[in-house]
Amino acid sequence: MTQLDERDGVESTEQAIAAASRGSAAYRADPHPVYARLRESAPVCRLSPPHGVETYLITRYDDAKAALTDPRISKDMYAAMDAYHTIFGDSSIALDDNMLFSDPPKHTRLRRIVNSAFSPRRIESLRPRIQEIADELLGNCSTSVPIDLLSSFAFPLPLIVICELLGIPEGERADMQKWCAVVARTGFSKEDKEKLALAEGALREYFVDLIARRRREPTDDLLGALIRTQDEQGAMTDGELLSTLWVLLFAGHKTTAYLIGNAVFNLLTHRDQLQAVLADPELLPNAIEEIIRYEGSVENATFRHALEDITLRDTTIPKGSLVQVSVASANRDPERFASPDTFDVRRKGLQSSHLGFGSGPHYCLGAPLARMEMRIAVTTLFERFPAIDLAVSPDEAEWLKVPFPAFRGLERLPVALEPSRLPLR
Ligand code: HEM
Repeated sequence: MTQLDERDGVESTEQAIAAASRGSAAYRADPHPVYARLRESAPVCRLSPPHGVETYLITRYDDAKAALTDPRISKDMYAAMDAYHTIFGDSSIALDDNMLFSDPPKHTRLRRIVNSAFSPRRIESLRPRIQEIADELLGNCSTSVPIDLLSSFAFPLPLIVICELLGIPEGERADMQKWCAVVARTGFSKEDKEKLALAEGALREYFVDLIARRRREPTDDLLGALIRTQDEQGAMTDGELLSTLWVLLFAGHKTTAYLIGNAVFNLLTHRDQLQAVLADPELLPNAIEEIIRYEGSVENATFRHALEDITLRDTTIPKGSLVQVSVASANRDPERFASPDTFDVRRKGLQSSHLGFGSGPHYCLGAPLARMEMRIAVTTLFERFPAIDLAVSPDEAEWLKVPFPAFRGLERLPVALEPSRLPLR
């Protein structure tokens, strides 16, 4: 047995491929040993996932970065309708007619419209409000019993921010959050697909109604700006507008929420690193980049598919197959990052190198907002509660069990904000 085998129980490449194909419990709890094995011996490997569509997983950094910019590896869902139907059914199409599921020139057109409304000035103007929301949420948390930091802080913070940015009224957010949760968590069984269709139908109806209301009574928020651009320039169909609203909402909150959880968990389980950041707050931006590299909230980039036969290393990805790029694996590639399994908030040259926000044309449009939210969330939490600690042992942390890994995050994060105030056990 090699050192890798003893530590991880991933004894062969076949076992690693099987674990990644079916999303085994051990792999979901800690995918890194599987990725280490695959990078070593099957860097472009064929999976047999539960959705039944032939899929190739790319795990090395150089290959991942190249794949994310390779025009032969498409994001246009209309060019892969059979696979798309098999995996998601019909109901997702109306929500996914956006930049994330398209290639140039459509991608360029849709991204440009959102970029013009999502200006640095608009993002910077959110800073005081994000601080206020963070203060309010933490002010409402109990300090005399353990709390779940995910549901009381990490999730509501980015959700409120993106809803306010888009102009989704407060009273309408709870239902939406419920539907989003279904969309993020469903598997591939017939029953799952029915649930998915219901949630997506409800979201679609809600967005159609919201857009109609905003047309009647224009607003100054991001949705108002998108509608104005659409009306003035005719640059987006109604379907594209609806789907754009959806991608901003969905991409804009789950990713950040899980990342806040991963950040707090990893800082609390690497006390020397936390102390370094507390002693020198200027380290915080780099610490956040390191968290995104070490335990980012996006494990695999979204689906892509091969427009032609593509040979990568010794493997030919046949035309029409799905391609999954594991950014979590790429970010732990020892060929790119020295001691990649070490969490080091002082690591150099991170911002331009990790793939946690993707790379190439689909590079995360919300990265500046996500970075701002992360900095405010982490600083506010540790300044207000310097003694915060986990309320469970780190081994009891429950990582998301969704069979097909898109997100990497915790189910819950039990913490004691002020451990000295808890009743003695
Ligand atoms: C820490 C939080 C975040 C992470 C880790 C993250 C990660 C990513 C990644 C990896 C991609 C590329 C997906 C691919 O190529 O398949 C992406 C794309 C995208 N992200 Fe983020 N994201 C975050 C926050 C946000 C926020 C706050 C927003 C919006 C408000 C946002 C909006 C988008 C959009 C619209 C795209 C699609 C861009 C395109 O297709 O051109 N993201 N994100």
